[in-house]
Amino acid sequence: MMRLRQVSLVAPIACLTACQEWQSALHPRGPEARQLADLFWIFTAVTGVVWLLTMLVLLAALLRRRAPPRDPLATDPVTERRMTAIVSTAVGLTGLTVLVLTGLSYASQRDLYSGKGEGLTIRVNGHQFWWEVTYEDAEPYKTFTTANEIHIPVGEPVTVKLNASDVIHSFWVPSLFGKQDLIPGRENAIRFTAEREGTYRGQCAEFCGWQHAHMGLLVVARPKEAFERWREQQIRPADPPADPERQKGLQVFLSKPCVMCHSVRGTPAGGRVAPDLTHVGSRQTLAAAMLPMSRGNLAAWIVDPQSIKPGVNMPLTKLEPDEIDPLVSYLEGLK
Ligand code: CUA
Repeated sequence: MMRLRQVSLVAPIACLTACQEWQSALHPRGPEARQLADLFWIFTAVTGVVWLLTMLVLLAALLRRRAPPRDPLATDPVTERRMTAIVSTAVGLTGLTVLVLTGLSYASQRDLYSGKGEGLTIRVNGHQFWWEVTYEDAEPYKTFTTANEIHIPVGEPVTVKLNASDVIHSFWVPSLFGKQDLIPGRENAIRFTAEREGTYRGQCAEFCGWQHAHMGLLVVARPKEAFERWREQQIRPADPPADPERQKGLQVFLSKPCVMCHSVRGTPAGGRVAPDLTHVGSRQTLAAAMLPMSRGNLAAWIVDPQSIKPGVNMPLTKLEPDEIDPLVSYLEGLK
C-alpha cells in the first residue's frame, strides 16, 4: 500500500516536468487562460512598480538628515504647500492605479463570460470528493456519464455547466480557465478552448471537506476525430465479459453493495451516487486523479479505500480472497 501511495505522489510531479500534463495558470493553453495570465502579469508589474517606488521614497526619507526644528509646532507655509501637493498627487495616482486595474479586471471578466453556449456542452457535478461528468446531446441516447476525466476536442469552444450535489466545490483547470464555483441548487457556466493537444490537470479549489486536496481531474484535449472515437466508445454500454475470470468478476460485482452506488451500463448495476464505472478501465486515473490507473491501484482502492483516501464516501466492502482478482479483472477490462 505504501508503495502505491508513493507512486501517486511522484506521478504528477514527473508529469509536470515532462510537460505532458499541465496544471499552471502561468502556462496558458487557451485564449481564456491566456487572458487571465496576461491580467496576472499586468497586476504583478504594476504592483511591483508601486512597491519599488514606495521603497525608494521610504529609503530617501530615511537617509535624508535634517536638523531638528527649534519650535516643533511652527509651520512653514512653503513646505505645507509642497507637502499638500505631493500627498494629493500620491493619493490621485493611487486612486487612478486602482481604477485602471479594476477596469482591466472588469473588462476581462466581461469578455470571458460573454460567449454563448454553442459547441460541446458538458455538465460537471461536484461531489465529495469526485467529479461527475455528463456529456449532453440533443439525441438522448447519446448522452452519457463518466467521472473525473473530461475529454474535449482541440480548438473548439467547450461549455461546462457547473453544479454541486452536496457542498460548494470549485472547478479549476489552471491552464484552460480560472476558478468557478459549483454551488448546490445553482448553475454556473464557463467556456474555454484548448488550443493544443494535451492532458491538463485540474483541481477542486474550494475547501469541501477532508479530501478536498485529493479532488483532482484531468481534461484530455485531442483532435476532433480522436475525441469522436472516444465519445462513440463511451456512449456504448459495457461489453459482456467473454472470459470466465471476468464473468466471475461481474458476478462478484453484482453480488456486492457496489451496485448500490455505482452504475455499469448494460448490467443491472444502476447506482447514481458514485462514479459511473461503465468504461472505468479506459480512464487514466482512479480516486479523482489521485492514483494512476493500474491493476495494483485498482485492487488497493477496492480493498481499502479509507486508508488511501480517509473520509471518502466509498465504504469498505467485504471480499473473499478469491474474489479480488476476478473483480479487478472485470473492472480493468471495462474499456
Ligand atoms: Cu471539492 Cu474541494
